Amino acid sequence: MHVLVFDSGVGGLSVVAEMRKLMSDIYITYVADDAFRPYGEKTETQLKERLPGLLKIMALAVNPDVVVIACNTASTTALAEIRAALDIPVIGVVPAVKPAAQMSKTKTIAVLGTPGTVKRKYVDKLIADFGNGCQVVLHGSIGLVDLAERKLSGQDINIDDIHVEIKPMFLVEQGEKIDVVVLACTHFPLLMKQLKEAAPQQVRWIDSGAAIARRTASVLNKQTLNKVPDYPQTALLIGGQENVTRVKVFAKFGFAKTVIL
Ligand code: DGL
Repeated sequence: MHVLVFDSGVGGLSVVAEMRKLMSDIYITYVADDAFRPYGEKTETQLKERLPGLLKIMALAVNPDVVVIACNTASTTALAEIRAALDIPVIGVVPAVKPAAQMSKTKTIAVLGTPGTVKRKYVDKLIADFGNGCQVVLHGSIGLVDLAERKLSGQDINIDDIHVEIKPMFLVEQGEKIDVVVLACTHFPLLMKQLKEAAPQQVRWIDSGAAIARRTASVLNKQTLNKVPDYPQTALLIGGQENVTRVKVFAKFGFAKTVIL
């Protein structure tokens, strides 16, 4: 079973980790669009113009069974267009509003995503359909994307910087009642330890990684699978830069080779 996992950077690795836990024999090709990150600051038009063609080329090049868009910003903006461009199943990442809203005792949750994701109509609809009567605080941060990238490139992360990014989310009216936070960007689970430390109050942090892994397994189960490549599992970094720590991080997540395109 060969899955192409796509993100703007290292965020999709939080999904890869869940996939490897669930499917020990999975073969993954990882594609990071380093050249165009951060997606959270791009317009809907920019993402809709870039992503279908890019994913089509990558899928033709590596011939996976399934494509997983391990990026909330891309999924909430251009999933339909990407699906239309490909003739294999495409799985997207949806902010976990439904489980979070069911879990909240105070009926107050937050959705922490990129500035792009929290503006999308897609998220408004999720809240309308699955918000379970909760008050929902929407908070966008692009700084956390950069901090996750820096952490996985071996740079020190200052907890005060994380605090600055999330503090406003708890300062809105009723913010002190937030008891569940949806991590609506795949980069953010990579900062779990730091987020817990920086949060001014005790909350549960929910991400979609495990759910996406389960969905991928079920889609793969229903398919006739292609032969997996006879080269090692590879991370393809579009326009990325040589960075020894990053290469080691990709190796830790199961990618024996890192190639810069
Ligand atoms: N990891 C991506 C997401 O889930 C986007 C990060 C970015 O490039 O802004 O939204």
